[in-house]
Amino acid sequence: MAQSSASHSADSLSAELFDRAQRSIPGGASRSTVLTSPHPIYIAEGEGAWITDIDGNRYLDANNNFTSIICGHADPVIDKAVRAQLGRGTAYSMATSIEIELAELLVDRIASIEQVRFCNSGTEAVMGAIKAARAFTGRPLIVKIEGSYHGTYDHAEASLDPHPNSWGDAKAPTTVAYAEGTPASLNGEVAVIPFNDAEAAWAVIRDVGERCAAVLFDPMPSRVGMPAINQEFIAAIQGAAREVGALVILDEVISLRLAHGGAQQLHGIDPDITAMAKIIGGGFPVGAVGGRADVMTVFAKQGDARAAVPSGGTFTANPVTMTAGVACMEQLDTAAFDQLNAIGDQCRAGLRAGFADADVAWQVTGAGSLFRIHPNDRPISNFRDTRHSSDEARVMADLQRELLTREVYLSDYGMGCWNLATTADDIELFVNAVIASLPNPAAHFVR
Ligand SMILES: Cc1ncc(COP(=O)(O)O)c(C=O)c1O
Repeated sequence: MAQSSASHSADSLSAELFDRAQRSIPGGASRSTVLTSPHPIYIAEGEGAWITDIDGNRYLDANNNFTSIICGHADPVIDKAVRAQLGRGTAYSMATSIEIELAELLVDRIASIEQVRFCNSGTEAVMGAIKAARAFTGRPLIVKIEGSYHGTYDHAEASLDPHPNSWGDAKAPTTVAYAEGTPASLNGEVAVIPFNDAEAAWAVIRDVGERCAAVLFDPMPSRVGMPAINQEFIAAIQGAAREVGALVILDEVISLRLAHGGAQQLHGIDPDITAMAKIIGGGFPVGAVGGRADVMTVFAKQGDARAAVPSGGTFTANPVTMTAGVACMEQLDTAAFDQLNAIGDQCRAGLRAGFADADVAWQVTGAGSLFRIHPNDRPISNFRDTRHSSDEARVMADLQRELLTREVYLSDYGMGCWNLATTADDIELFVNAVIASLPNPAAHFVR
């Protein structure tokens, strides 16, 4: 490899590649989250907890492909299983038995799931869950949490990042389309509630009543700030949904990494449908909808008649993804979750102590192997509390840039997570790097 050159310098190979990329790819990348400033960093390889860019710079990975890598990069067990499958082909237009193995594994470990259908992303899983709920109930509308990210399906991304000018009532937020060009009919098809507000959940769900097919929520929503979910809120969602005859859809795309049986095991949630993705693919593109058998029947062909909700896809349940998923999930026993939780606890405790020592008004939320750093100390319970001011957004972008110079990759909004290959020394390096990267004490984010 060429001599190492600072990842963000104008003469780096990454800078050169970005110039080239902008000619053939609008914006220079197919995935906007890779756009670090001043240009994306092009990765050559990863191993365990670390990744190396094409200029030879190494980074401790505090993002893990937005939480999907849980065993570590290039995990040897997944690597071996996938290589064996690659030698036998990657995808056929007929069924393979490995799909059944991964389905059985999920049914065995996640209490509310009796059956599973696979797809290729979390976006597709949430879309499938919504379509299933609509077909099962014969109703058009979903209720979702303000600010919560569930992928890019029109209904699921409503009110993902509304500007304060369009927030509306804090107890009954306005439904705001995310992508320009989204049909205005969305307003009648999505209602929005604030996270952790049981009273608002009861009121909004009762108000939409018989039009409501499902209430969709993520128990540890990253864009809402990863506050701890309160039990009254869970009870309100479940109680109100059942009262009006709607289903509960739990988005466990990220939160499945919190416990052997997912966040539903931790919090005693009993969803009708669960959307999954990320870790269940062992590092490959994946999604899955799981749930009660009577609800899941909407996906089944009825004799010669097509399913109520037809689903499929060229690469759905392909044997490479299914093999990687089984090889990954089988390693995730309760001891593995204990290890992930210990790493996460060390990280959050280290950051809290570091912020206190530095006397800065910063905080960290999250649980298990997940964390989110906030450049403020206001109480965080929902999206409106969490949303960054433009000054805060700038400070977090600066933090990301500073961390890159200290061998750490973190998302530009402070959300991170750890994989099983991460050591106590790695966490110490991370905490020290964050503290060393805090804005100059003259800035106003200091007490
Ligand atoms: C909670 C949640 N749901 C759904 C999705 C969409 O998953 P994917 O990126 O696989 O489409 C994400 C992605 O980050 C997510 O965090």
